[in-house]
Amino acid sequence: MSSDENERDTRERDTRERDPREQDRPTPRELLARAPLMARPLPPFDPGPAPASPGRLFVDWLDEAIDAGVLDPGAALLSTAGADGRPDARVVALRDVELADEGWVFAADTASPKGVQLTQRPAAALTFYWPAQGRQIRIRGDVTQATAEVSVADFRTRSPASQVAGLIGRQSTPMESLTAWDTAAEGARRQLDNNPDAHPPGHTVFTLRAHRVEFWQGDSARRHVRLGYRQSGDGSWQRTLLWP
Ligand SMILES: Cc1cc2nc3c(=O)[nH]c(=O)nc-3n(C[C@H](O)[C@H](O)[C@H](O)COP(=O)(O)O)c2cc1C
Repeated sequence: MSSDENERDTRERDTRERDPREQDRPTPRELLARAPLMARPLPPFDPGPAPASPGRLFVDWLDEAIDAGVLDPGAALLSTAGADGRPDARVVALRDVELADEGWVFAADTASPKGVQLTQRPAAALTFYWPAQGRQIRIRGDVTQATAEVSVADFRTRSPASQVAGLIGRQSTPMESLTAWDTAAEGARRQLDNNPDAHPPGHTVFTLRAHRVEFWQGDSARRHVRLGYRQSGDGSWQRTLLWP
């Protein structure tokens, strides 16, 4: 079947399968066709002079992302797997990058699903996508947990709203109503008023120590540039261009 025939076939199938109540609305396929990916000028990336350390290149790109007006550049997709080996993923906030030992730092509660998964299988991936520049960064490695002292100190640096949310806890368990959250937040605020040192016992700083990092620069003509960093046994980094 030619690609034209293929497309016509897909369109006809979409129309046949549409609920009559949906007839006046664009299909998901039509909506996606209105918003093509990376159909805009994107910055060049010359991998030749890239730094020897992937952490350094990450921070350079982060700086450029902020300059380019990328929204929430510190939001990263954290992928994990638990004891059953099934993948899971959600967004977390990047808190720091440790350049000395290539560590990407985030925080979570050890009682949350991701915290349980990271405790059972301390390996993960963090993925960033910065649309304004068409840049993706993938970081894979092992995860370590900071000491209780470091994690408590991290909690104390948080905004009052974030501390209240952390103290409420119970993340990802069923909540009976939105007002249940308001009531729990009031309790957490009172707890903090009475004891400014209050902290959730499971709040933990995690560090993803990279073994492999990949930088992907998208291109509207699909001449994407990918630069992979792989750590050798002696701790040094090998840089390799990858087919896009
Ligand atoms: C922009 C953004 C930042 C987030 N940052 C965090 C974070 O730093 N830590 C965290 O536990 N959850 C964070 N979340 C919420 C998680 O995505 C997720 O919903 C929650 O942690 C429950 O995940 P789990 O059930 O896999 O444990 C963030 C969500 C978004 C959209």
